[in-house]
Amino acid sequence: MKICVVTGANSGIGKAAAEKLLRKDCKVYCVGGPEGFPGDGETEENSRGIAVRICCDLRNDGEIKRVIGAVEENGVDVLVNAAGVAFYGVSESIRPSDIADMVDVNVKAPLVITSALMPKIRQNRGTVINISSVTALSCANPRGAAYGATKAALTSFGRSLFEEVRKQGVRVINIHPDLTDTKLYRNADFTVTGDFESTLFSEDVAEWAVNALEARDGMCVNEITLRPQKNIIVKKEKDRKLTGPGIN
Ligand SMILES: NC(=O)c1ccc[n+]([C@@H]2O[C@H](COP(=O)([O-])OP(=O)(O)OC[C@H]3O[C@@H](n4cnc5c(N)ncnc54)[C@H](OP(=O)(O)O)[C@@H]3O)[C@@H](O)[C@H]2O)c1
Repeated sequence: MKICVVTGANSGIGKAAAEKLLRKDCKVYCVGGPEGFPGDGETEENSRGIAVRICCDLRNDGEIKRVIGAVEENGVDVLVNAAGVAFYGVSESIRPSDIADMVDVNVKAPLVITSALMPKIRQNRGTVINISSVTALSCANPRGAAYGATKAALTSFGRSLFEEVRKQGVRVINIHPDLTDTKLYRNADFTVTGDFESTLFSEDVAEWAVNALEARDGMCVNEITLRPQKNIIVKKEKDRKLTGPGIN
């Protein structure tokens, strides 16, 4: 049974990835906030996977240590760094505490967890999947500058890490999704349309992430960028559709 660790497993993309891995009969350490873990509510049929919930606040060093300690003993085949938080607006409107949250959850936690688990991942010739963002690839992310900076850091980390561990058989995959219909936009004055042509869904991102695990031995799908066909967002207060550069 493959051992997987998924952060942000109680919502959105992380939850969809955890559910896909459970359907592949993996044991999944589901790390995240207090509510909404896979298996809450209706039981998933056709799943013989085992979900182990680890409820924690990834801004807290002690709690990160607890996560690492809980999974370490068993070895790790797949680590999905999906937890993330975003605050949008012109840079001067973003509070220092919001910046700290984004740095802690989007950068520090995945770097610390990945580094601590690497001996166990290497032992199993495993895979690290970073759920980064298209903002990591953009030249500029107006009204998402700090968030984009954290995602660029995560992508940079993933690229460098791959060069360090590729000869040891470890794969590192950076996923760069665009606008996806999740709770991520709760701190934004815009949201996704929900329309299939201008919105990605958590299952889309999770599917491509988990598919990349099926690459033959000796090959790594390093980076995946996913974009909806159209670039449309909705202003929350006016329910007005806008077009323009992606903010996600
Ligand atoms: N949605 C998009 O358009 C989009 C696009 C590109 C990249 N991404 C990235 O995709 C990843 C998943 O986000 P999502 O879109 O699926 O949004 P989401 O539904 O809000 O999921 C974010 C997850 O991160 C967890 N999390 C946030 N802060 C945490 C903390 N301090 N401690 C522990 N867990 C914490 C959340 O737990 P709670 O629910 O308990 O807060 C939740 O499980 C993020 O890294 C995000 O940056 C999203």
